[in-house]
Parts: sequence; structure tokens; C-alpha cells
Amino acid sequence: MHAKQLLEISKEHAPPPGDESPLANMRRDFFAASQPIGTVPPPGSVKGMAKTALETLKGHKPTVLVDKLGERLAFERTGVRLYESVLTKFDALGSWDDGPTRAQLMQNRDEELAHFEMVRQYLQKLGADPTAMTPSADVVAVISSGVLKAITDPRTTLAQALQALLVAERADIEGWQGLIQLARELGHEQMARDFQEAERAEQRHGVWVRQWLDASVLQDANREIGKQHGGG
Ligand SMILES: [Fe+2]
Ligand SMILES: [Fe+2]
Repeated sequence: MHAKQLLEISKEHAPPPGDESPLANMRRDFFAASQPIGTVPPPGSVKGMAKTALETLKGHKPTVLVDKLGERLAFERTGVRLYESVLTKFDALGSWDDGPTRAQLMQNRDEELAHFEMVRQYLQKLGADPTAMTPSADVVAVISSGVLKAITDPRTTLAQALQALLVAERADIEGWQGLIQLARELGHEQMARDFQEAERAEQRHGVWVRQWLDASVLQDANREIGKQHGGG
């Protein structure tokens, strides 16, 4: 209704002459002068310190592994919370043909929790503090914050929440794959095998969410076709 006035205002307030380079320059100064996003915390116990020293002697890089394990720990914990929120949305709004069942959502949630617990135990075995937030954990929390917002927004549908969940599940698979490679590189064979099992579960999570979403889109499209034919 007010399209005309909007156009007039945009003419009155034209952007100043020039380009985005002053903004880029300002960012560059900040990038160059800023401190990193934290450091990997040192082990909290004497036993932990001894283990870290031993790993270092063996030529391993425990801080890299602890940083990435901390990342996985944070992501799996968030995964549990994402599924909890999706379950609440499921209960409030219901599902569709070939959409998620409550049992499937609960199974995925339980697997995220089991993964979290496994990573926690490995961190403790390495003498690291699983309650400490590592730099990579901090970064993935920021990256996944949009997913959390889309899922918990009361206005989003279950299908929209699943679209956000798919982003998390894809990132989850990538995260496990990187961690498996790192564990193997550092000679932690059992860890690599356990993580491969987790990755297999994550692959299934990704396939399921994809299928639920496809079914929802197909159903919406069919409903539209039905309307066109029925409504005339
Ligand atoms: Fe996960
Ligand atoms: Fe997952």
C-alpha cells in the first residue's frame, strides 16, 4: 500500500558516495589486532599433566586432540538439546506421512547423548577437563547458534525445524570424519574405531532428516496441485 512512499524515502536517503572499502579497512585493523578465541586449557590434575607430558614425549599433539574433542563434546551436547526442542515441536504440531515418528526422534537424541558421553570419557582418559570450553568448542557454538534459533523459534513449523536440524547433522558427519582421521593419525586406534561407529549413526541421522523433509515438501506440493484442481 505504501510502496510509493517507500520509494520516495529511498530517494531522499540515498547511500553516501564511495564504496565498502572503509568498512573492510576497519575490519582488517580489528582482525590484525585481536586476540585468538581462547586457548586449550591445561589439564586440571597432576595425573592429567603427566599424561599430557607423556603424549608430548611420544610426539603426539594432545592439545589439538583435546581441542577437537572439546568441539565434538559441545556439538553432541547441543545435538541433544536440538532434538529435545524438535520433540517439543513434534508434540505441539504433529507430523506427516513419512515424517518423523516420536520414537525415531528419541532414538537420534539418545544417540547424540551416547556420543557426548563417549567423548567425555575419552577426554577424561587423556587427562583433560571435559567441563572446560576449548576454542573449537566456542567456535562451533557460534556456528550452530542459528540452527538453535530456527528450531526454538515458536513460529517455525516442524519441517522448518528439520531443515535447520539437517544443517547440524551434516556438520556432525564432517566433524566425526575429521576427528576419526586425527585419532588415527595420533595412533589412537580404539578411539578411531569407536568414533567410526558414531559416524555411522550420524550418517543415518542425516538420511532420516533428509527423507522426512523430502516427504514434507512433496506433501505440500501435492496439496497445492490438489487445490488447483479442486478449487478451480
Ligand atoms: Fe551428533
Ligand atoms: Fe546426529
